[in-house]
Amino acid sequence: MAYKGKFITFEGSEGCGKSTQSKLLLDHLTAKGVAAKLIREPGGVAISEKVRAILLDRKNTAMNKECETLLYMAARAQLVEEVIRPELAAGTILVCDRFLDSTVAYQGYGCGVPVDAIKGIGLFATKGLGPDLTFFLDLSAEEGLARRGTERDRIELRSLEYHARVREGYHAIARSEPGRVVVIDARRSIAENFEAIRGAVEKIL
Ligand code: TMP
Repeated sequence: MAYKGKFITFEGSEGCGKSTQSKLLLDHLTAKGVAAKLIREPGGVAISEKVRAILLDRKNTAMNKECETLLYMAARAQLVEEVIRPELAAGTILVCDRFLDSTVAYQGYGCGVPVDAIKGIGLFATKGLGPDLTFFLDLSAEEGLARRGTERDRIELRSLEYHARVREGYHAIARSEPGRVVVIDARRSIAENFEAIRGAVEKIL
């Protein structure tokens, strides 16, 4: 089903600046009088925020990769139903900090969960709803984690090798869907990158 609104996602590894860029985009759209909203994953609604707390809790060292994958999907299913689908139907431009690509990159490429399984469960969780446009802010694992500092959640605590696989996963996604995914070099300035993002968004509005 085609929606009146547009669904724009920001992706990338830790410290890539996607939260900064998604806020800039929201402010820009709002200033232009466009009905826009910013949400994040995992989270965005009460149930999904509770799932987020379980996922990021450093005490949950025993969580296996299948449980982790399903919890990210559970949080997503609730957000899609409660916010994403109704807002898109109402014509809102939804800006989302992470979506299904994160699960492919982090649990698929990072943890070794089969990507086909993730896509299948993803289809079930989202009922086939996906982004119209995605920005992948690309940064090396070393630079990204250094930007994050020392206070890290359960996922950020993983090795540099893990985060390098996540980055490789994002590159694979971008190569397979060049029409949807715009790769942004996150080492450039915030202003330069925002210009590129603004330009790509104008084209789909
Ligand atoms: P955030 O730091 O961007 O808010 O994201 C929370 C963490 O969850 C981050 O380390 C990336 C991770 N994550 C996954 O591993 N899989 C997913 O599907 C999502 C949405 C996030």
